[in-house]
Amino acid sequence: MKTIVITGATRGLGLATARQAVVEGYKVIAVGRSLSAELKVAISENPGQLFFEQFDLNEIESIHSFAKHIAKNYGRLWGLVNNAALGSDGVLATLHEKDIAQLIRVNVEAPILLTKYLLRPMLMNRGGRIVNVSSIIATTGFSGLSVYGATKAALAGFTRSLSREVGKAGITVNTVAPGYMETDMTSGLQGEKLEAIRRRSPLGHLAKAEDVAYAVTYLLSEKAENVTGSTITVDAGSTA
Ligand SMILES: NC(=O)c1ccc[n+]([C@@H]2O[C@H](COP(=O)([O-])OP(=O)(O)OC[C@H]3O[C@@H](n4cnc5c(N)ncnc54)[C@H](OP(=O)(O)O)[C@@H]3O)[C@@H](O)[C@H]2O)c1
Repeated sequence: MKTIVITGATRGLGLATARQAVVEGYKVIAVGRSLSAELKVAISENPGQLFFEQFDLNEIESIHSFAKHIAKNYGRLWGLVNNAALGSDGVLATLHEKDIAQLIRVNVEAPILLTKYLLRPMLMNRGGRIVNVSSIIATTGFSGLSVYGATKAALAGFTRSLSREVGKAGITVNTVAPGYMETDMTSGLQGEKLEAIRRRSPLGHLAKAEDVAYAVTYLLSEKAENVTGSTITVDAGSTA
């Protein structure tokens, strides 16, 4: 059974991906700050295959020891999905410096450090998968999301250069860019604003977390062995 780590798998897209990965036969280590009721149920339904590891990615100085803990307790690692992120919004002129720093720390610095340390066993195994969850906002822009957008564009840039570094070792690195999905992160977006986003989709509806999870599990699979350095957009056509 191949082992993968998914950050931010307590809710939303991470949880949908964890559920899908379990169905596809992976051993899944779900990382988050607190065990949600939904993840708890999923773990009880999949004993020995789905695990929760409590970790706050804001604590970047502890990431190295967390990666060692993962390697020691779960053995060979096949894949890492850098999904956890903060979605804080606000116009730049009034955004607090500490909120800007935290967004950059959790959305960029933490996944880069976690990748650095979890890549090591993959390099030794001569194979593996890294999937970075970005957003269509990285390329389209959205008022009130300038810092968030910067962090998501950073991850896409990280993907491309890292794919060049580790390709010879049989490791692929890709980005998934979701459009709007209904999760806790977007619960503040309702009414006419949400309708406007829906109207932009040629399909007349929005992608769900499950739709995006399929793209992530495809990139984790053997079938995606010749896909690297690329971005799969799952946005129900919103950016077409
Ligand atoms: N929702 C959208 O419309 C949308 C669109 C494009 C891209 N995305 C991207 O998709 C990914 C998932 O988003 P989502 O909508 O599923 O978000 P969500 O529902 O808010 O879930 C975020 C997840 O990240 C975890 N997390 C947040 N801060 C953390 C920290 N400091 N340490 C550890 N875990 C942390 C949360 O777990 P805990 O609370 O347990 O820590 C939770 O599991 C993100 O990268 C987001 O940027 C979302």
